[in-house]
Amino acid sequence: MKQVIQAGCKGYAPGRTPQPCTLVIFGASGDLTRRELMPALYQIFSRDLLPDPFAVIGFARRPWTDETFREEMKRAVSARTSVNAESWQTFSGRLFFTQGDFAEPGFESYRQLRDAVSKAQNNANIPKNVLFHLATPPEHYPTIVTGLKVSGLADSEAGWRRIVIEKPFGTNRESACALHQYLLQAFKEEQIYRIDHFLGKETVQNMLVFRFANPSFEPIWNRNYIDNVQISVAEEIGIEGRAAFYESTGVLRDMVQNHLLQLLCMVAMEPPLHFDALSLRNETVDVLRAIRPFDPAVDAVRGQYGPGDVRGNGAAGYRNEKGVSSSSNTPTFAALRMRVDNWRWAGVPFYLRTGKRMSRKRAEVTIEFKPTPHLMFPLDTSRPQQSNALTFRLQPEEGIIQRFIAKQPGPEICMQPVSMTLLYADAFGIEKPPSAYEWLLLDGMRGEQTLFARGDWVEAAWALVDPVISHWEATPAPDFPNYPAGSDGPEAASALLKKDAREWLNA
Ligand code: BG6
Repeated sequence: MKQVIQAGCKGYAPGRTPQPCTLVIFGASGDLTRRELMPALYQIFSRDLLPDPFAVIGFARRPWTDETFREEMKRAVSARTSVNAESWQTFSGRLFFTQGDFAEPGFESYRQLRDAVSKAQNNANIPKNVLFHLATPPEHYPTIVTGLKVSGLADSEAGWRRIVIEKPFGTNRESACALHQYLLQAFKEEQIYRIDHFLGKETVQNMLVFRFANPSFEPIWNRNYIDNVQISVAEEIGIEGRAAFYESTGVLRDMVQNHLLQLLCMVAMEPPLHFDALSLRNETVDVLRAIRPFDPAVDAVRGQYGPGDVRGNGAAGYRNEKGVSSSSNTPTFAALRMRVDNWRWAGVPFYLRTGKRMSRKRAEVTIEFKPTPHLMFPLDTSRPQQSNALTFRLQPEEGIIQRFIAKQPGPEICMQPVSMTLLYADAFGIEKPPSAYEWLLLDGMRGEQTLFARGDWVEAAWALVDPVISHWEATPAPDFPNYPAGSDGPEAASALLKKDAREWLNA
């Protein structure tokens, strides 16, 4: 069991503290370290979940000293959370910095890093456990792996070595396989932790608990009772200055190949034997294997935002974003229809959609149930969305929402859809759940791979989206931009469901 779950408890449940170790962050001066890693580390330290002793060694090109690194990190953490002077003092005493170039010929700076790791271990009496976190652009991964191998940092005569890799893991199936083979030269699969931060989100873990710890829904969790499944991840933000990355990435590589397919697997997987990495990841790989290859021309819709208005603020079109070509063919929106060809899901469509610059930020997984076989009450068919639906809301306001039909008080049988809403903030008294990175960093230190993508899963996910990416790249969209910023995406996304006499649901 990964986590101690206490029935009825409010607040956080205590977790298992990892073994004392050293965390080495490559790309320690970068955006990810500032935005996610360091705030998450400080939060788990403040909650007494970090091991003791413990050290973080930042590795990057900037000519920083330990002191500059600490100051920079304090600024980064303070921008995201309140910092207590006393606890920061203790926390920052564990932060160290080594300057180095990832691609330096001869790998001398990796040897310096090795010495810095030994020094931190000796000074604080830390066992020889080391977690490497690659928070760099992906093109540096192979070089860093070579540096770790050549310098001997990847070897562990005593203690463990683990490596955390950020997405994107490859840009298609072929490059993902090549990267995997490269990593295997220095690490075994059990040492490799591929991050998909959606798996660390509280609601996503709760989808598993909801399905497999409660008996009420599992008997109807199949094609006999479920009409369709919808996975929507809408973002208000655009590309946030990441034009160079996004132009060569696009929505399928950025969101669908990883986050949306992981969500699909959480809904569709068979009950694992145990909550452990082997059982759970075997089941999610089986889901991907069961997905029918789909026809990009029929089952997929693409979009790109034009100028518009998001919550009252004017927003430029994608092609007007700094660094984006004025004739860019990069999609910022995708809607897909998928089929999972197995006993449980035969005939149940899974609709996926995600886009940037949508009307509002919302990430939801909705299970729409089939109608009752015989309805004895008169139903007002002019009302939309009358079906029973269960929604897992990932953001904002994490919760679970059940929609059903109720009688409106009055002398007539007048029925209308109503919702029962469970908000985590109310149920657990936690305004803001821990960030995905808090769990994932802790899990990496604990050697818990359950919430990390396995190599074969990543490859199978690429195999599903590669044909659509190739089709879209080979046939430029004649109608881009085809949705205004601040809308719900292109018309064709609604038409995709209309063809099946369905519509996108909002909880
Ligand atoms: C990242 C994508 O993986 O996920 C971003 O690269 C996207 O483009 C982000 O904005 C969404 O994650 P979250 O947790 O902010 O919803």
